[in-house]
Amino acid sequence: MKFRHSFLIAVSVTAIFAYCYASDQETKPLTEQSATNPLSERKEGVAVKHTGAVPGGGGGDLAMGKQLYAQVCFACHGEHGEGKEELNTPSIGGLPAWYIIEQLEKFKAGMRGMHPEDVPGVTMRAITLGLDEQVVKSVAEYVTTLPERFTEAPDVEKFDLEKARYRYANECMECHRYNGRGEIAFHSASLITLNRSYLLRQLKNYREGWRGADSSDMYGNKMVEQARRMSDDDIEMFVDYLGALAAGDDPRPARER
Ligand code: HEC
Ligand code: HEC
Repeated sequence: MKFRHSFLIAVSVTAIFAYCYASDQETKPLTEQSATNPLSERKEGVAVKHTGAVPGGGGGDLAMGKQLYAQVCFACHGEHGEGKEELNTPSIGGLPAWYIIEQLEKFKAGMRGMHPEDVPGVTMRAITLGLDEQVVKSVAEYVTTLPERFTEAPDVEKFDLEKARYRYANECMECHRYNGRGEIAFHSASLITLNRSYLLRQLKNYREGWRGADSSDMYGNKMVEQARRMSDDDIEMFVDYLGALAAGDDPRPARER
């Protein structure tokens, strides 16, 4: 047994596992839901691979990461990192390793998951407390190899694509890039593989200052600044647009493509 903290982890999450399995009865996993989405087929062609997704970001142990995933993360994030709506867990498969490491460290350091009403954040923070640096790197290295599950496409009937594309290009693209895959240089997240309910919740968390508002969270602060300006309708529109981006929309002006 390679993990120094595996016993501690096993004990600390047993209670939460019980909760996971208990509430896991009725809802279908996200992978099954997305298989019925007609747009999901097209998404294969979108893949411009993210920058900075060098597996592991260096120093991880993939075998250890795989084992830890199966022991700890699997129950909440799903076998393939696809996320579970009923547990409020994001689809983390394929996220860049550097970003996973950064977020796990933020949870651990108390920059994220500290607000008592942010129950999903508090839950995830509890998990990170038992993970040391080597384990974090190793599990990130494994999660980045899991398949991506693209953000749900919006209902085109109810969605003003032109307007949303314009707003994304002006307000988000500078940091999250034209393809919504983020940029290691800006520490900005890759957005188009995250599930819709998670994205909606995160933008609200930033707006409330439940995430990103800590004075030592320089990059989180940037998102708080963005989200403070957003109405509920804006948040819906941006998340709808991330679904369109995942389905292949391109927000760049024609001359820049
Ligand atoms: C008890 C359930 C549970 C377990 C076990 C769990 N997570 Fe989570 N995780 C969550 C929840 C809930 C969230 C959403 C937090 C939020 O809304 O801020 C989350 C969020 C995350 C995020 C943030 C994603 C992003 O885009 O910022 C990462 C990364 C993550 N988990 C990785 C892991 C890894 C790796 C493991 C295994 C070591 C793990 N989780 C184990 C419940 C869990
Ligand atoms: C000035 C740069 C900047 C701009 C502009 C910006 N973001 Fe971000 N965004 C970031 C950074 C940096 C992060 C990671 C912050 C953290 O660690 O919490 C982030 C994180 C996010 C997340 C959380 C993703 C996750 O994995 O949990 C969402 C959602 C998001 N941004 C959406 C948007 C949207 C929508 C816009 C446009 C309205 C936008 N951002 C504009 C820099 C930016």
